[in-house]
Amino acid sequence: MPDESPVTGFPVILEPLLAELSRPGSNPARTPRPFDAHLAEDLGAYASPPRLPEVCEFETVRHFTRLSRLNYGIETGMYPLGSCTMKYNPKVSEVAAACVSDIHPADAPAMERVLGWLADFREALLEITGMDDACLWPAAGAHGELAGMLVIGKALEARGEKRRKVLVPDTAHGTNPASCTIAGFTTVNVPSGRSGCLEADQVARHLDADVAALMMTNPNTLGVFERDIERIAGLLHDNGSYLYMDGANLNALLGVTRPGDMGVDCMHINLHKTFGAPHGGGGPGSGPVLVKADLSRFLPVPRLARDASGRARLMDDAPLSVGRIHGGLGNVAVVLKAYAYVLSLGAQGLKDAAVRSCLNANYLRKRLEKTFGSVCPSPTLHEFVISDRAFRDKGVSAMDIAKALMDKGFHPPTVYFPLNVQGALMIEPTESEPLRELERFALAMEEIAGAAQVSPGDFGSHPMNTPVERVDEVWAARNLILTWHDMNPSSGGGYLNG
Ligand SMILES: Cc1ncc(COP(=O)(O)O)c(C=O)c1O
Repeated sequence: MPDESPVTGFPVILEPLLAELSRPGSNPARTPRPFDAHLAEDLGAYASPPRLPEVCEFETVRHFTRLSRLNYGIETGMYPLGSCTMKYNPKVSEVAAACVSDIHPADAPAMERVLGWLADFREALLEITGMDDACLWPAAGAHGELAGMLVIGKALEARGEKRRKVLVPDTAHGTNPASCTIAGFTTVNVPSGRSGCLEADQVARHLDADVAALMMTNPNTLGVFERDIERIAGLLHDNGSYLYMDGANLNALLGVTRPGDMGVDCMHINLHKTFGAPHGGGGPGSGPVLVKADLSRFLPVPRLARDASGRARLMDDAPLSVGRIHGGLGNVAVVLKAYAYVLSLGAQGLKDAAVRSCLNANYLRKRLEKTFGSVCPSPTLHEFVISDRAFRDKGVSAMDIAKALMDKGFHPPTVYFPLNVQGALMIEPTESEPLRELERFALAMEEIAGAAQVSPGDFGSHPMNTPVERVDEVWAARNLILTWHDMNPSSGGGYLNG
């Protein structure tokens, strides 16, 4: 059970660091011959032995096992964090991605093999999206957005224009306005219609000679497909503006429809959401940026292309490029995980995954709207939003509902997002979840709704069954402690103090 920190007065978990467990000479694990020679060779590369904690293997394994039990992950249970697409990540993809760590540092033939895989995957992405060219190096979705907006800025510059405005609908993902601003644009918020869709007439009202682009999340953060997209693309193109699509939610569209066929000029994909690699705190991401042919020459370098013999090559001679946006080959292991995912599912499998992600979300939506009410009249795809509206008069908030879910063994949904829904709970079950788990989640939500009506006063105390109970989030945000403190009253100081 958590104890109370003498520094903050808040609960802490008394799992010592390995450094604190360290005792000189308590590291009896030895590498068996003949492997010890290799190990000695590796360690010989250091001028002096690395200063590692001296903890025996058994204690080390127990330490990490205890830590892993404090954590909640997709392999623990359902993780319906809307917009984050926490789906199961097949282990075979991890094995495939591990190829690159095995060949590091890469010699020329190994490098050629990796480039070949990347080029194959790039071509698969072009086929999936209907776009003409792609750069695989951005390290996350937001990084892909930034790269895309820099590309659009360069293209305008090449046209001799200096347009500064980017229209951003109120259903866009939160990173969109930030990326536009970092790329040097000013964002203009465009309200969507009552259906949750962006309406072409509304866009037309905002168009003028200073509009560089519109940045649309599609499906948007309500989970709604932007059905006016082709008309909107036409309006933008007639105005000399570009249509940027945040394609991070492409997992709902795979194999069903293609942004390149809808008039999109530039987009990014979150490989870590769409093609299976952990998202959230779970690991690095990858956000390839894709463009139509007229924007191709502005993409970041190095350019990945095939020579006359079909061999994949990196090329730097792109005078109009926005330049480098990442060292090396981006987060190459994440790209290879995505490639492995695409190859294992195949064309039909990808389409099935998209359809199933929508089916799962709609099953839950229909079920939960009976108790929580509806916030969106339109059909939704892979995720949906409900709210705390039905319980507000009892003083039970979206946050209270999320915390109560933790006590029922689930990761909470995304709360208070999207911003255009008050008290939002955004739920994305993903295609990974079997019907049985969806049922368990729906039952848990229904029980919470029942309790909110009968005993709303109890809600402030959730969660009670987690390693850390309810924390004061405002305090935590305002008083971040980012350096190590010896918080264990019984230890009398730790490794770093000593
Ligand atoms: C629609 C959408 N756009 C952009 C992003 C940002 O991606 P990242 O967190 O990889 O920067 C996300 C993240 O979930 C997203 O859902």
